[in-house]
Amino acid sequence: MYFTLVTGASMGIGEAFAREFAETGTSLLLVARSEDKLRSLAEELKSSGAPAVRILAEDLSDESSPGRIYEFCLRENIAIDVLVNCAGLSFAGDFETLPPGKMDEIMEVNMMALCRLIRFFLPDMIKRKRGGIINVASIGGYQGVPGLALYSATKSFIVTLTEALHVELKEKGVKAVAVCPGFIQTGFLAKAGHRQEGIRLPVYSRDLVVKAAIRGYEKNRLQIFPTFIDFLLVFSQRFVSRKTAVRLADFLSSARIRE
Ligand SMILES: NC(=O)c1ccc[n+]([C@@H]2O[C@H](COP(=O)([O-])OP(=O)(O)OC[C@H]3O[C@@H](n4cnc5c(N)ncnc54)[C@H](OP(=O)(O)O)[C@@H]3O)[C@@H](O)[C@H]2O)c1
Repeated sequence: MYFTLVTGASMGIGEAFAREFAETGTSLLLVARSEDKLRSLAEELKSSGAPAVRILAEDLSDESSPGRIYEFCLRENIAIDVLVNCAGLSFAGDFETLPPGKMDEIMEVNMMALCRLIRFFLPDMIKRKRGGIINVASIGGYQGVPGLALYSATKSFIVTLTEALHVELKEKGVKAVAVCPGFIQTGFLAKAGHRQEGIRLPVYSRDLVVKAAIRGYEKNRLQIFPTFIDFLLVFSQRFVSRKTAVRLADFLSSARIRE
């Protein structure tokens, strides 16, 4: 049986991915650290008709965690058809205020775990000539964002990695797409210490992101912008200097002063 693996499924956008996939009758493997939240979500999805929902509590900042997830799938005979790399975190504030431990955690979860999971599951997808990867990036990945320097760099990494994978994999029958939303209403901003009142962009719903992501994945779009504003902000960069793009990102996100 084919499964969709969603990381960061205990809340926020990952949880919305799980709900949306469950509605279409997809079997799911849900990963995050909060085992209790995963368990109650799995129970709810199963009682509303999802064929199979498995959970695995893992800390993706531990470099051996992607390997354990892959071993679990081999042991349990779970074939991952779609990998949704959604787990992620941020920290608002100027770079010198970023605690070193947080710096490592952001890079491990946002970039390294994502790469390792792809590296584990991709060969099987290629063998089966089906399935693919949905990487959750951000419009913040299209320029440096003052106050979110490391976070925006990790999202640039995801955008670039996914672009190359998209083309490499097209002829192998496997999809790779990057979803690039703006600000979304979840607990993410508060956890990062990002003052929501300072944000000069609409903060939209996670369901909007997930529906756009799944539609875009089905059509194998290289990059998916959930709203017209997201598209416009990225497209308009072609007509301004890099410095202007970064200054605009600073103005719109106002992430330098922590909550
Ligand atoms: N919200 C926004 O404005 C926004 C905008 C653009 C892009 N994004 C991206 O969307 C993705 C999801 O964000 P969200 O808004 O849904 O945030 P969220 O509500 O804070 O959820 C983050 C998810 O990641 C998981 N996670 C965090 N650290 C983890 C770790 N060490 N190991 C395993 N799982 C971990 C969390 O689960 P546990 O705590 O249970 O481990 C949670 O399920 C992120 O990649 C984020 O960069 C968000």
